[in-house]
Amino acid sequence: MNRKPTLAVVGATGAVGAVMLQILSQHADVWGDVRLISSKRSAGRRPVVRGEETEVLALDEDALEGVDVALFLVPEEVAAQWAPIAAAKGAVVVDNSAAFRMDPDVPLVVPEINPHAVRARPRGIVASPGCTTLALIVAVGALHAEFGVSELVVSAYQAASSAGQDGVTALRGQLSLVAGTRLGDSPGDVRRAVGDDGGPFAAPLALNVVPWSGSLREGGWSSEELRVREETRKILGLPELRVSATCVRVPVVTAHSVSVHAKFENEVTVARAHEILATSPGVVLYDDPAAGDYPTPADVVGTDPTWVGRVRRALDDERALELFVCGDNLRKGAALNAVQIAEAVAAEFAVD
Ligand SMILES: NC(=O)c1ccc[n+]([C@@H]2O[C@H](COP(=O)([O-])OP(=O)(O)OC[C@H]3O[C@@H](n4cnc5c(N)ncnc54)[C@H](OP(=O)(O)O)[C@@H]3O)[C@@H](O)[C@H]2O)c1
Repeated sequence: MNRKPTLAVVGATGAVGAVMLQILSQHADVWGDVRLISSKRSAGRRPVVRGEETEVLALDEDALEGVDVALFLVPEEVAAQWAPIAAAKGAVVVDNSAAFRMDPDVPLVVPEINPHAVRARPRGIVASPGCTTLALIVAVGALHAEFGVSELVVSAYQAASSAGQDGVTALRGQLSLVAGTRLGDSPGDVRRAVGDDGGPFAAPLALNVVPWSGSLREGGWSSEELRVREETRKILGLPELRVSATCVRVPVVTAHSVSVHAKFENEVTVARAHEILATSPGVVLYDDPAAGDYPTPADVVGTDPTWVGRVRRALDDERALELFVCGDNLRKGAALNAVQIAEAVAAEFAVD
């Protein structure tokens, strides 16, 4: 073929879309035309990508005509409807939503872990995992390759932007209502100040943490928690892996943090875990608590890698490690992983 493929960014005006346009402007330019698409609400806007203002088109069949690769950065129900249409028109779809992640005919790809999976795509769709799975999977996958993971117990501290632009707007609005006040020292005072404007969150997020995200599933689990389990199993090719996740919203704009208890088949040492993490692509080891060196979301926001600190061997289990992991949910947790997949597909166009 040897031509530059045409790329469509469907959902270019959302939280992930905005970061996608930055990344497309920063990465080596492997694309021919780049077409920006959203709902009718944002059609006509002219965001900048690759240094040029580019008009946003409304999503319809015409907008998908002649597209080689389509990045879908839209709500799940929109992806469920439109990704198959784009694929039927000949595009390879890279979908960021949860719509196809567990479809056995759709690969779920993290290029640092299972890059080969991108080529087996019978539906013409490749899925990118959720932001919480992506926050931990690159580091855990690297340790798994050496030690063989047998169980994960994770607590995720999720940023507001994983609920999209609405989440960011809601958190910023709530923070402006509580700033400079003495709120937070009597029950319900924050809730009264914030009023009904919880936005996409189950309770006020300013001055608070909320042990809920997603929708209710059997047994009291949330959809977010079950996704971490199912997606991790699929990516690592370990359908029986024991995974228990708790997802909590915290008043952070962007960048997820995850506390991980990882149990392995073999004995582990912190020294060897450090070596593995320090040399794994996509991972930065930042682990010197005596010097105050450990990742925080405020420090890693806007960066690409998975940051790992607080690496300890479990006190009561020589085969288990404790880690604290941070990663930008809009970059590696969404746009960057999707663009890495799309660039792997684009490379196929360069082969004669
Ligand atoms: N945020 C994260 O951290 C994160 C991480 C991993 C995966 N994801 C997934 O990525 C997707 C996008 O998330 P987001 O956070 O960017 O959401 P968002 O901020 O709400 O943006 C949604 C985007 O979808 C577009 N859209 C909505 N309805 C549409 C329709 N009917 N037709 C065409 N376009 C439509 C919106 O266009 P308008 O501007 O016209 O409304 C906007 O561009 C979701 O599936 C989400 O689950 C998000």
